[in-house]
Amino acid sequence: MEVNNLRSRNWFAREGKDGIIYRAWMKNQGIPAHHFEGKPVIGICNTWSELTPCNAHFRELAQKVKNGIYEAGGFPVEFPVMSTGETLIKPTAMLYRNLVSMDVEESIRANPLDGVVLLCGCDKTTPSLVMGACSVDIPTIVVSGGPMLTGKYKGTNISTSDLWRFSEAQRMGEITQKDMQEVEAGMCRSAGHCGVMGTASTMACMVEALGLTLPGNAAIPAVDSNRRVLAHHSGMRIVEMVKENLTLKKILTREAFENAIIVNTAIGGSTNFVLHLLAIAGRIGVDLTLDDMNNLAKDIPLLLNLQPSGEYFMEDFYYAGGLPAVLKELDKHLRGQVITVNGHTMKENFSSAKSYNDRVISPLDQPVNTVSGVAVLKGNLCPDGAVLKLSAASPELMKHKGQAIVFEDIDDYKNRINDPELPATADSVLVLKQVGPVGYPGMPEVGNLGLPPKLLLEGVRDMVRISDGRMSGTGFGTCILHVSPESAVGGPLAIVQDGDWIELDVSARSLNLLISQEEINERLAKAPQFNGIVDRGYVRLHQTHVEQAHLGADLDFLKGGSGSKVTRDSH
Ligand code: FES
Repeated sequence: MEVNNLRSRNWFAREGKDGIIYRAWMKNQGIPAHHFEGKPVIGICNTWSELTPCNAHFRELAQKVKNGIYEAGGFPVEFPVMSTGETLIKPTAMLYRNLVSMDVEESIRANPLDGVVLLCGCDKTTPSLVMGACSVDIPTIVVSGGPMLTGKYKGTNISTSDLWRFSEAQRMGEITQKDMQEVEAGMCRSAGHCGVMGTASTMACMVEALGLTLPGNAAIPAVDSNRRVLAHHSGMRIVEMVKENLTLKKILTREAFENAIIVNTAIGGSTNFVLHLLAIAGRIGVDLTLDDMNNLAKDIPLLLNLQPSGEYFMEDFYYAGGLPAVLKELDKHLRGQVITVNGHTMKENFSSAKSYNDRVISPLDQPVNTVSGVAVLKGNLCPDGAVLKLSAASPELMKHKGQAIVFEDIDDYKNRINDPELPATADSVLVLKQVGPVGYPGMPEVGNLGLPPKLLLEGVRDMVRISDGRMSGTGFGTCILHVSPESAVGGPLAIVQDGDWIELDVSARSLNLLISQEEINERLAKAPQFNGIVDRGYVRLHQTHVEQAHLGADLDFLKGGSGSKVTRDSH
C-alpha cells in the first residue's frame, strides 16, 4: 500500500487546525515530528492486567513488538482493552467475551491505525480480540503470551488441569490440606497461561492454524526468550503486512477455518474452540456450522499427547517441535495452500518442521488415540446440537442409557450433590439446567459437575453429565455440553425430570430423551417461563441479544463487520 493511502494519514497528514490537534497532543508523549510522516501506524492491542495473571507479562512483550515495529519503519501505539482473566472474573469470563470484542472493534476503527498486533493469552482474550479485529478487517497479526512453565509437586509434573483430580482426592480424604498448599505453591510457576491443552493453549493453536500468527507461536513458553523474539518479529512483519494490505479477510478463508478444525482434533483441543471458531467465522463472513465440526474431524486422530487428553505439558510440546510439527504430520489432511500472516502458505511454513519426540507429537500412522475431536450430538434433547470432547470421555460410556438425576440450577446442584440420600448410581445421568448463555448468564464452565461423593467412594470416576453450560479446557469426563437451545429459552433440557431415561449413542452422534414427542410438547407447554433477565446494564444487553451456543454465542447485532471507515470527524 502506498504510504499516502494509509488510513492514519486522515489524522496525522491533515492540514489546518485538525491536523495540529492530532499531532500536537501525540507530541506530548515526546514523539518526534518525523514519526507522523508516512509511517504505518501500528496499534498494539494489549490485554495486560494484573487481574489477568496469565497476561501479566504483556507490557514487556509489547515493548518487544514495538522494537520490531520501529525496526521495520512503523510507528507503534499501544492501547489497552478490557482484559478478562479466567480465574478471578465473575460470574464467568465468557459473559464478557462479546463486550471485549466490541471494545476492540471500536478502539481499532475509531483510531488512526493502519495495522494492529493483538496480544492474547488467557482463554477469552484470544477470541474476543480476533472477533473485534475481524469486524474492522485491517492488517492484523496475533502474538500469544505463551504457556506457563510446567508445575511441580513432590517431584512430579503437574498443571492446572490436575486441580480437578487433587480436589476430588481431598474430598475423599486421600490428601491433606497441607498437600493442597504444596499443590497451590507449585502449580503456577511462571508468567503465562495454563500449561496444558486447555482453552488458552487451544486458542493459541487455533490462531496459528488459522494463519494469524508467525509459525511456532502457540507453544513457546511465556518466559522463554524465543517468545520475545517472536514478538519482535511479529512487530516487524505487521509493518510489511500494512504495505501489502494483507487484511484478515484474505487470510481467514473457509479453508483456513477447515484447517483449524482439523488441527483442533489432532491436538485434543478444548470444546470452547467450537464456540469461539463459530463466532469468529460469523464476524468475518465465513459460513461455518456445527456440522462442519463432525464432518472435518471424522478421520483425524489424536496426535498430541498433552493433558488433559494425554500425559505431557505445553513446555514439552515446544521442545518436541510445537504446532508446525503437528501440521507437518497432518499434511495430507490440511489445505496447505492457504496464505498466512508471513505471506507464505501454511505448507511452506511447516515444510521443514519435525517432531523431536514421538511420545509427545506422534506420527499420523501411530496416533496417541484413534478417537479424537469434538463430537456434535443431535436429538430430541438437543435439537440444535450439543458437544462432547471424545478424548476426554470414557470409552465405556460412549453408548449409554441411564436415568436422569436433575438439578434445576447450579444452586440446586451445590445443595444436593453431597447428600448421601441422592438416588444416584454409576449409571445415572446427571442433568444440570440454567447454565446456558442466557440462563446463568454467560455459560460458565460448570459442565463437568463433580460426582456424588458416595459414588466416588465406590470407585466411580466418570458418569454421563449433560448441561447447557461449558467445561474448562483443562477438564475431562463424559460431559455433554452446550446443549442448544438452552433450558432458559425453552429448550427440551428444561423439561427433563428425575427418573427420565436418556440415551447417548456417540457413534450415531445422538442424544435423546426417551419419552414421546407428544409428552415433550405437553411438558414444554406447561414449563414455567424463565424470569431471570436482569433490569439494566451490559448483562441485560447480553441476555437479550446473545445467540445460542450452536451459533457461537455472539450477540446477534455484532455478526459481520462494519469495515474500517470512520463515518464522522471529531471536530
Ligand atoms: Fe488463564 Fe487458564 S486461567 S489460561
